[in-house]
Amino acid sequence: MISSNTSLKPHNTFGIEVNAKRFATFSSTEELISILKERNNDELLVLGGGSNVLFTKDFDGLVIKNEILGFEIIDQDNDSVQVKVGAGEVWHDFVMKCIDLRFAGLENLSLIPGSVGASPMQNIGAYGVEIKDVFVELEAYHIGSGKTRTFSKEECQFGYRESIFKHEFKGQYIITSVTYKLSMSNKINSSYGAIQAELKSKGITRPTIKDISNAVIKIRSSKLPNPKEIGNAGSFFKNPIVDKSILEKIQNEYEIVPNYPGPEGKVKLAAGWLIEQAGWKGKTFENYGVHKNQALVLVNYSDATGGNILDLSTQIIADVFKKFGVRLEREVNVV
Ligand code: EPU
Repeated sequence: MISSNTSLKPHNTFGIEVNAKRFATFSSTEELISILKERNNDELLVLGGGSNVLFTKDFDGLVIKNEILGFEIIDQDNDSVQVKVGAGEVWHDFVMKCIDLRFAGLENLSLIPGSVGASPMQNIGAYGVEIKDVFVELEAYHIGSGKTRTFSKEECQFGYRESIFKHEFKGQYIITSVTYKLSMSNKINSSYGAIQAELKSKGITRPTIKDISNAVIKIRSSKLPNPKEIGNAGSFFKNPIVDKSILEKIQNEYEIVPNYPGPEGKVKLAAGWLIEQAGWKGKTFENYGVHKNQALVLVNYSDATGGNILDLSTQIIADVFKKFGVRLEREVNVV
């Protein structure tokens, strides 16, 4: 059923109060098709968990929310298991389910807000793991032709927080399910320093995937605000990928500059560090600001507008550019 003049506040983790001219949820491809029949000429916006969007104004069109559920084991042997999951499933609940079933591979991605369908969209990643490491294929509905298509890993063209669905196929497909290949052995990735430190503090020498998940949940909870309590969309910016010469220039001034190897001989800098050095960490305006524990995260403390947050991000981008000659890019979709 399509409703009119619907508040999107419950549907975006920033908690921004805007209305959609029309709004509907769908829990199957059939339901999606019947809603799209009533689209008329309205602009269309597809929402998952609403954890990567900043609304700056009312949406003068049709917003549809993906609530397709499902969890199906489609292949399993002694080493691995393939699970096909509905795109509307809550990401963290899916991760917890896999941990309970001892399916390894997703534990480092615990507590990431959002839905399963959003995971390939921007190749979500944290603590040394990206979704492309466990991705097999996805099914998506093509809005233009009404046909369903399967995309392999190669066809998704995954990069750092990137996929073909943010570029060439932007706005053209609605992801309906995602298939992941997980490991049946207790294969873990604890290379990330903060995870090692957390395991050590607990005296854990042979961690299980549950231990890794608990460590990640503890680290995330200490650094990142819980969107149920404080409106936010996780990292607001991407970590910038720059030429080595830029890093060297910054290193002339600062003793320790966090950086990681990037593609094609480039380096990835920590946007949070750059923003903190530019003096923005913890800065608070009436009801919004920069989070005090992680400068990469912008927060809405109560009833800020999307415009407030967008202006803040523009000032941060300008300041970081002035100070370091590095232009930050937003990770969040501004609507
Ligand atoms: N740092 C600062 N100040 C800050 C924040 C970070 O100096 O305010 C420094 C840290 O001390 C560290 C470095 O920057 O040396 C990196 O920080 P952190 O480990 O917190 O990770 P990040 O690069 O800032 C990325 C992801 C996060 C993910 C973490 C952990 C992006 C845009 N963000 O953040 O993802 O959880 O790594 O793997 O890649 C998200 O996408 O919503 C998200 C939270």
